[in-house]
Amino acid sequence: MGTAMEQLKQWIEEGKRIVFFGGAGVSTESNIPDFRSVDGLYHQQYAYPPETILSHTFYIRKPEEFFRFYRNKMLFPDAQPNRAHKALAKLEAEGKLSAVITQNIDGLHQKAGSKKVLELHGSVLRNYCERCGEFYTLEDIMKMEGIPTCHCGGRIKPDVVLYEEGLDQGILREAIYEISHADMLIVGGTSLVVYPAAGLIDYYKGNKLVLINKDTTARDSVADLIVTGKIGEILGTICGIE
Ligand code: APR
Repeated sequence: MGTAMEQLKQWIEEGKRIVFFGGAGVSTESNIPDFRSVDGLYHQQYAYPPETILSHTFYIRKPEEFFRFYRNKMLFPDAQPNRAHKALAKLEAEGKLSAVITQNIDGLHQKAGSKKVLELHGSVLRNYCERCGEFYTLEDIMKMEGIPTCHCGGRIKPDVVLYEEGLDQGILREAIYEISHADMLIVGGTSLVVYPAAGLIDYYKGNKLVLINKDTTARDSVADLIVTGKIGEILGTICGIE
């Protein structure tokens, strides 16, 4: 195990109130593409840039096209948690990790057994009628064609934060509380370029800020430890998850 891995392993062993902050790179080993890697969603060709399609304006003006892209490119109902998700759930079960804060909308942390998961950008597992508020599952949405419509006639909106939309203030407050009280903050699988999510790491006050990433990130310069590689392999190896 390299020195960075050994240092990470030691810090995790010492950790009593670890917080994990993650992004799409946590789910690529579950075969969900991330956004900004060379093979990521934002490097594929579409009529419009994906960030345009995944915006509130586009959702309102071109709902047919929005839902075609959303169903084809944002839903992975068969994806399974990988070693990273399982390692984090294990650390929480051992009482060492207090929260997972994620930008992902795939629900894989909960599927792996994590209990305290703060979903900054929402979840594809929750869908609500805009008119009557009725709840619909991911399966319901997958079964419907075109614009998902409630029995009341209202349009059903996925509970995911689109560009131009604000984040849930309660979840943001909770994420800030967890990070500001963490003895160790592990940031993994995120390029840290989308705000306000990326700005949350500035609330960490300790001296064990760890970045686990395949590539460099926008915040490498402020990390106390950088572990380069695949996060599923790294956390899986350290936490004994095969
Ligand atoms: N292990 C470690 N790092 C990985 C792995 C992996 N297996 N796979 C990918 N990465 C890294 C990539 O190198 C990249 O730095 O994870 C990072 C993923 O970055 P992005 O694709 O930008 O995803 P993310 O940071 O989550 O994007 C934030 O942007 O479009 C919005 O709402 C969307 O939540 C998303 C937000």
